[in-house]
Amino acid sequence: MSERFISFESIARRYPAKDGMTTVFEDLWLSVERGEFVCIIGHSGCGKTTVLNILAGLDAPDDGVVIVDGQAIEGPSLDRAVVFQGHALLPWRTVLGNVAYAVSSRWPKWSRTQIADHARKFIALVGLAGAEAKKPSELSGGMKQRVGIARALSIEPKILLMDEPFSALDALTRGTLQDEVRRICVETGQTAFMITHDVDEAIFLADKIVLMTNGPGAMIAEIVKNPLPRDRKRLDLHKHPFFYPVRNHLIDFLVERSRTFRDNVPAGFDRRHPPIVDPTAPEIPETGAVRLVKINA
Ligand SMILES: Nc1ncnc2c1ncn2[C@@H]1O[C@H](COP(=O)(O)OP(=O)(O)OP(=O)(O)O)[C@@H](O)[C@H]1O
Ligand SMILES: [Mg+2]
Repeated sequence: MSERFISFESIARRYPAKDGMTTVFEDLWLSVERGEFVCIIGHSGCGKTTVLNILAGLDAPDDGVVIVDGQAIEGPSLDRAVVFQGHALLPWRTVLGNVAYAVSSRWPKWSRTQIADHARKFIALVGLAGAEAKKPSELSGGMKQRVGIARALSIEPKILLMDEPFSALDALTRGTLQDEVRRICVETGQTAFMITHDVDEAIFLADKIVLMTNGPGAMIAEIVKNPLPRDRKRLDLHKHPFFYPVRNHLIDFLVERSRTFRDNVPAGFDRRHPPIVDPTAPEIPETGAVRLVKINA
């Protein structure tokens, strides 16, 4: 049975502008189930990081509320760990020191040995066993990003938040880290909320993909339910018959509908329940330019 684990309820964010206020978004609703992996895609500046920062508790909405596991968010919490694009490691600490620091914040009463053992387990999980004594300056970009992921996972957060965590990496490293993040999230039932610009990454990782229109006044136009099998493999993804229908649907959105949606909002559209769409379901004929198959609302 589905469970509303995260619930964005009519949130708005506005900033002062030269001629009044700019509304990044308003009346934005979104829910995430426990154990779900959600990716959010949309053009630069539409408000993705703002949504993630509000969920992290690093920013606050001007209206509305975000509920996590039955409680309204009031600031940052170790229940919600963030992996930043720029890894944000402490440069004077080793790999072990960086992860251990997070572990000791989570479990302040643990002994040094307990903390180090726990930290080592997560360093190994992201494939960095042997690099524990290295400082961030001695690591490649991909290794630093792995430390950021190990640090986030080591505090066993209720939600893993990632803001374009792999965008600065070369394709090979990005692929390896995508595999690791997916494996860990599937194995541990981790709830994850991630921003990406990479459509293939979203199709590989996400259970559902949230499509956000351009700002200002951005909206969640729809939620694409990923129809690919749960045991999907990154390198075979493109061979699956569902891959291109989903990919084309996402790209069509980014190229066209992200820009035009607001002026062509479908009749009956409800911000509180954006349509959940499966692009591989049979098309409803004569639906015009907007090829949506509504499978749930
Ligand atoms: N402190 C601020 N003051 C004024 N405007 C802001 C501030 N922070 C963000 N904005 C505006 O809010 C909008 C959304 O920003 P946000 O960083 O959430 O976008 P994004 O979708 O994450 O973009 P990108 O893909 O480039 O990371 C942008 O138009 C940005 O200019
Ligand atoms: Mg951003």
